[in-house]
Amino acid sequence: MTRHFLDIAELDGDALAAILDDALTAKAARTDKSKGAVDDDASLAGHALAMIFEKNSTRTRTSFDMAIRQLGGSSMVLESGTMQLGRGETIADTARVLSRYVDAIMIRTDDHAKLTEMADHASVPVINGLTDRSHPCQIMADMLTVLEKLNRLAGTKWAWLGDGNNVLTSIIEAGSILKFDVAVACPESLMPAPDVVTAARERGGTVEITRDPMAAVADADVVVTDTWISMGQQGGDAKLAALEPYQVTERVMAAAKPDAIFLHCLPAHRGEEVTADVIDGPQSAIWDEAENRLHAQKAILRWCFGLIG
Ligand code: CP
Ligand code: NVA
Repeated sequence: MTRHFLDIAELDGDALAAILDDALTAKAARTDKSKGAVDDDASLAGHALAMIFEKNSTRTRTSFDMAIRQLGGSSMVLESGTMQLGRGETIADTARVLSRYVDAIMIRTDDHAKLTEMADHASVPVINGLTDRSHPCQIMADMLTVLEKLNRLAGTKWAWLGDGNNVLTSIIEAGSILKFDVAVACPESLMPAPDVVTAARERGGTVEITRDPMAAVADADVVVTDTWISMGQQGGDAKLAALEPYQVTERVMAAAKPDAIFLHCLPAHRGEEVTADVIDGPQSAIWDEAENRLHAQKAILRWCFGLIG
């Protein structure tokens, strides 16, 4: 059976733990190598990854490219606007054709249904590089960063402030499987998807929803936010005004645990969702978080090919 990496909730705790463990081990094993050097075991030598982008990307594009190179394989970037996909060729036909050329497909798109349609019709692993609904690769990197910084994941409390968006969906799913608590402070109009919250609670996850940012960050080990206007969304003064009380400031960080870390998937908007003194301050772990996209995705690729988990 082909292993797709579509959403955190499609994997069980053992698989997620195996990916995190593999990422930490492989990261430690290559500290003396230059970034372009192949891992000693070249575990995906001869494997090719196609990456389809229907939205902009810096980290996902670059880290997946370097990930497959470090594993001994190769990649190609396909901008949907220059593909026949951009002229109406179906996702299903694109999936069938690409499956004849490459060993895995990563896609960043808008409608989550396009991702699942790709997986339904591909005969090679399909990886979610972000959809309007979720961003699971990002949260694997975030969990890796928490493990490195705090030496534990289960039992930690993550406070999310801001828009109830795609990144939050994957955090809520991960918390319910790997047993960390998620406290969400959002405006009423920008709450996380109700089905995601319900499913997480049914799995035994603790998801606290509040309108009060200070209540969410109380005793938090991790404070996390994201852009207020995601790709493809309309901005507008009303949305920005609703989100303004959810800005992560030094006062907010001071209400969390003293050793709490700050995470942000990036790109960031200093002065909107987070102040510069927080994102550039001593509790910020954002550069390690960004680096960990690479290490997490190497492990995700290895999991897709059945090398771990
Ligand atoms: N965090 C993240 O996915 O960044 P990019 O949009 O640059 O890929
Ligand atoms: N929520 C953001 C994440 C970017 C990596 C977006 O979808 O634009």
